[in-house]
Amino acid sequence: MSAPDDQERRRPPPAWDELLRRIVELSTVERDLRTALRRVAELVVAATGADCCFVHVVDHEHRELVLMGATPEEFDRLAGSIRLSLGEGVSGWVAAQARSTLVPDKWSDPRYRYIPALRGEDFSSLASVPLLRPPRRVVGVLNIHARRVGHFQEEDLPRLEEVAGLLAGIVENAVLYDQLQRREAELEQFVAKTVELQELERRRIAADLHDGVGQRLVSALYHLEAARADVGGSSAEALLATADGLLRAALSDTRAAIGGLRPPVLDDLGLGPALESLARSVGGEFDVVLHVTPVQAPPHVETALYRIAQELLQNVVKHASATMVEVNLEHADRALALEVADDGRGFDPDAAPSQLRYGLAGIRERVELLGGTLQVTSRPTQGTRVRVSLPLAGTDAAGGSPTADLLPEHRGLTGLPGAVPDSAGGAPGVVP
Ligand SMILES: Nc1ncnc2c1ncn2[C@@H]1O[C@H](COP(=O)(O)OP(=O)(O)OP(=O)(O)O)[C@@H](O)[C@H]1O
Ligand SMILES: [Mg+2]
Repeated sequence: MSAPDDQERRRPPPAWDELLRRIVELSTVERDLRTALRRVAELVVAATGADCCFVHVVDHEHRELVLMGATPEEFDRLAGSIRLSLGEGVSGWVAAQARSTLVPDKWSDPRYRYIPALRGEDFSSLASVPLLRPPRRVVGVLNIHARRVGHFQEEDLPRLEEVAGLLAGIVENAVLYDQLQRREAELEQFVAKTVELQELERRRIAADLHDGVGQRLVSALYHLEAARADVGGSSAEALLATADGLLRAALSDTRAAIGGLRPPVLDDLGLGPALESLARSVGGEFDVVLHVTPVQAPPHVETALYRIAQELLQNVVKHASATMVEVNLEHADRALALEVADDGRGFDPDAAPSQLRYGLAGIRERVELLGGTLQVTSRPTQGTRVRVSLPLAGTDAAGGSPTADLLPEHRGLTGLPGAVPDSAGGAPGVVP
C-alpha cells in the first residue's frame, strides 16, 4: 500500500460545490470584510479537512501582505498585525508570482518562513493560492495548512483557485463598499459644514437687520410719536424731518442687506471690477490702493473672495482707524490669493475670539470649506494684513479606513474638499 493512497483514504473528499455555494451565500450578506474572511476560512477548513486557514490581503502602498482573517480563533485575533513583504515566505512568493503552489512538507521548502505567532511547528503541509481579479491582479492570498504531510493534492488546486476567485470578489466589494461609506461620511460632513456656514450667515443678517434697520425704525417710530404728540407745535417739522431721514437710512440699510445676500455686481462685472466697486464704496475714510490681476475663477470662489473682501474692508472701517488700505488679488500657484492690508491700529489675533463676532470666524469657515488657507498678521499699532488663498482646482480627500488603506489604488474616488490644510503655516497671528 503506497503512502499517497493511504493519505487519500484518510482524507474524505472535500465538499467543493457545497463550499462554493456557501461562500457565494456569505458574500451576499456579510458586509464586514474581516468577518467575511474569517467565515470563509472556517468554511474552507470544514470542507477540506485542513487544520487552519489564513486569508492575507495585499497592501499595495507598503507592498505587503496583511493577515485579515483566519481560523482557528487564536489566529484570527492576529488579523491586522501579521505582515509579510511581497516575495517573502510561501504566501509572499504566491502573491509576487500570481501563481498557486502546493507545499507537501514545508520544512523541506526553502520558501517557507517561520512566524512563531502562527505556530508553524504544528503544521506540515500547505496549499497557497492567489486571490486574483481580472486580468491577473493579486488582491490577496489564501493559505491552508494541515498537520499531515501531503494533505493537498494537485487536483485540489483548480478548486481552491475557484474559492480564491470568489474571495477576491469579496475583498474587492468590501473595499468598494467601504469607500462608498467613506464618501457618504464626507458628503455628510460637507453638508454639515455648509449648513453651519449658512447659519453663521443668517446670524450675521439677523444682527445686521437688528442693529441697522431695526434700530433706525424704532428711532423713527419714536420721532413720529413725538411729532404726533406735538402736532401744531413748533418742533413737529424738525421731528418729522428726522423721522424721514431715519426711514431713508433704513431703506438704504435694507438695500445694503439685500445686496449683501447676493452680490449682483459679481454676475454683472466679474470679481476684479466688483472688488474695485467695493473699494470705492468704503473709500473716503482712507485711501484704497487696488492691485487686481484679471483672473478667471469658479463662481463659488469668486463669491467667497468677494464676501471675504467685503468683511475685511468693513473691519478696516470699523476697527482700524487706518489712513491707507491695500487690496491685492493675484493668481498664485493654482490658487487665487486675496490680501487686504491696512496701516491702522492693529490687534492681537491670538486673543480669544468673542462668541458674538462673526467676521473673521465666518471667513475661516469659508476658507476651510473651500480647502484654502488664511493668515492674519497683526500687532497692536502695527496695522493688519489678512491673506486668503483659495485653490482653483479640487483638493484630494484623504481617507483613513483600514480597508481602503490596503488597496490604495481605489482611493480618492471623490475630490470633495475634505482635507483642510493647516491654516497656521507657522505665520504670526493666524486666526486660531
Ligand atoms: N483691520 C483691523 N484692524 C484692527 N482691528 C481689527 C481689524 N480686523 C479685526 N479687528 C479686531 O478683531 C476683532 C474680530 O473681528 P471680527 O470681524 O471677527 O468681528 P467684528 O468685526 O468685531 O464683528 P462682526 O464682523 O461680527 O460684525 C474685531 O472686533 C477687532 O477688534
Ligand atoms: Mg468684522
